[in-house]
Amino acid sequence: MQNVVIETVKTALGWVPAQWLPGGTPDPLIERRVALGRQDSRLDGPAKVTGLARFAAEVPMERLCYGALLHSTVTRGRIARLDTAAAEAAPGVVLVMTHRNMPRIGTLALIGVSDLSAVGNSSLPILQNDEVRYNGQVVAAVLAETQEQADHAASLIEIDYAVEAAKTRFDDAKAAARTPASILIERNHVLVGNAAQEVDRAAHRVDNLYRTPGHNHNAIELHAVTVAWQGETLLVHDATQMIAPSANALAKLFGLKKQQVRVLSPYVGGGFGGKGLWDHQVVAVAAAKLVGRPVRLMLSRESVYRMIGGRSPSEQRVAIGADADGRFNAIIHTGYSVMPPYGACPEQYTMCSRALYNAKSFEIVQHHVDLDIVPNTYMRAPGEAIGTFAIECAVDELAHQMGIDPIELRRRNEPERHPLSGTAFSQRALTTAYAEGAQHFGWERRLAEPGARRDGEWRIGMGCASGSFPYARMPGAHVRLTLRRDGTVNLSCSAQEMGMGTSTVQVQHAADRLGLPVEAISFDMGDSALPAGSMAGGSSQTVSLAAAIMAATEKLTGELLRLAGNDSPLAGLRARDVQLVDAGIGDVADTARHESYRSILTRAAREEVSVIAAGSPPLEMLKFAMHSSSAVFCELRVSEVTGEIRIDRLLGSFDCGTILNPKTAASQFKGGMIMGIGLALTEETLFDARNGRIMNATLADYHIPVHLDVPEIDVIWTGIPDPRSPLGARGIGEIGITGVAAAIANAVFNATGKRIRDLPITLDKLL
Ligand code: MOS
Repeated sequence: MQNVVIETVKTALGWVPAQWLPGGTPDPLIERRVALGRQDSRLDGPAKVTGLARFAAEVPMERLCYGALLHSTVTRGRIARLDTAAAEAAPGVVLVMTHRNMPRIGTLALIGVSDLSAVGNSSLPILQNDEVRYNGQVVAAVLAETQEQADHAASLIEIDYAVEAAKTRFDDAKAAARTPASILIERNHVLVGNAAQEVDRAAHRVDNLYRTPGHNHNAIELHAVTVAWQGETLLVHDATQMIAPSANALAKLFGLKKQQVRVLSPYVGGGFGGKGLWDHQVVAVAAAKLVGRPVRLMLSRESVYRMIGGRSPSEQRVAIGADADGRFNAIIHTGYSVMPPYGACPEQYTMCSRALYNAKSFEIVQHHVDLDIVPNTYMRAPGEAIGTFAIECAVDELAHQMGIDPIELRRRNEPERHPLSGTAFSQRALTTAYAEGAQHFGWERRLAEPGARRDGEWRIGMGCASGSFPYARMPGAHVRLTLRRDGTVNLSCSAQEMGMGTSTVQVQHAADRLGLPVEAISFDMGDSALPAGSMAGGSSQTVSLAAAIMAATEKLTGELLRLAGNDSPLAGLRARDVQLVDAGIGDVADTARHESYRSILTRAAREEVSVIAAGSPPLEMLKFAMHSSSAVFCELRVSEVTGEIRIDRLLGSFDCGTILNPKTAASQFKGGMIMGIGLALTEETLFDARNGRIMNATLADYHIPVHLDVPEIDVIWTGIPDPRSPLGARGIGEIGITGVAAAIANAVFNATGKRIRDLPITLDKLL
């Protein structure tokens, strides 16, 4: 049904002239930038450096009590015996909450494309019965006067389980895998021509399996809430990337009106997809209600591993067939990942293969393996991060086999239009990104022969790979714009600042949009009491808010022209005749006709004008093929003695539309690339299939890259504006990680002649 609706809308939009749609006319700010494109420092920087920025677990409250959670140690079963007496008698304990005394509530509605206010990551009941569905599930919560007392009391709860058989083995569960009809807004199973036959008949072919392990979220800030019931209203200080929908979801769950729940989250210490709505917020809200006191619940690092889902493991098959000239006649990308039916994230690893290359035939399909496990969730470039590993290693393998430079092989298969839909790309300059990247990196020094470069015990290699991430703009993002008589402007909405520079860039944007200096603009966010912005996800927040600010500016212009009236030099001009410039409104045709905001508001005897507006529906996403893309380059050394890998250089060459602030953008790109190093070399959730338990639920055992693992990282970009998007920008948050694992794996091959197709590339695999 969803496939039919979306495909029908796409077909219909194909017939609608572009100029009638959002993105049909390029945003004038693409040409007229003053503050945008400047290397401004983050506005939230000083507050963070001086410790004034207050995070969710730092909000002081009177009579606060502290929470601790207890997690199931078995995978499937029932609680057969539960003894909380010792915990209840422990010093400082205020409440022990289990399924026996937890208030009865419904289940969370899962994140989905059909209901954007639904944001649950798991639809399993939360402390509602004695059933255990995965190892690590929350089975009890303790509130006490101090954190230490809560932690201690939780250790005194005794539970015996009646254990039941559980599905914990990926390979065993594959036979019963489900094949969903759609993956996000795309049809899942795509067949163009007869790809199986084309691969068989191809002059050159590769056909391999690639395996990636599960990954856990490790944001610096632990998940935390401080919650307080104030009469019939609920105040939630949360660390979340989805403020407005979380408030809605909590209201629904606890039978409140939307306005009765206020979620505050002005700062988030890293999200990456993991800071959504999980069991802990619900447990904290329920516990606070039972005791009539405010509650702080900050997850331990181990709790984050046990109850916050991460990236799904995958097994992917990529087969490519090519003719003698290297033109692809078939791309097959199929595979399995884990997605329990009570989870929300389909790990869309085949998305990249739909957009990267031309081919005569395609076969693409994903299967979901059902395990008894904490639901996997979105984790920086979900799908694309591991999907690009598979397809981009396969392309490198084919290039090697054919004796063609891998960049040249990609160039020969660069699509003119979207390879599956035939839709025009809004803007795409991946070949430019490759050319500039190759030059900057010194790609010509690469030797095609594996193992040809050495330095003592070290073998040296270079590799490259493409990254890809679809453009997204969220519908329904609102913003309030208030222009005051003194010429200052306040913008507000419930947007999220997770460290990427949300307010900084939108202040730069609003300054240019309104013809004001950045100092005149303030931006309030992080509060569900403000107009609902969009969530921070899918690398979509910047353009989503930008479209709302555009709409608010248009509304403001109309309002100001009305107030200006007939005594103004602007008399008789309509909105389309004017532009906002030099702290006022000016006639586009006659620059002498201008009136300042101050003058208009003074004459109208108004202290301020305030408008609320929502961005246009994001139809450009359906009318055009829109993707951020990148070329990633890596040079590394592999020790012949130990198998150890040292990355010497990493370069990302990005094609993501206009770069709005080089400083915040470079930081986003580099952060993503560092996560890519972890994906390639160190990160792996070790899952004990015997009991379904994560074995390395600590930062000591789950290895993320540290400073010594990370070389100098260079980032460059084409900076070519996308004529179809607000500000000419596309997402930059997630593209950074994509392609990195393949570039590293391809460099390892170039150094050693060893092709490692299962991540992470640890030294044992190279000896
Ligand atoms: Mo993201 S994985 O949309 O934070």
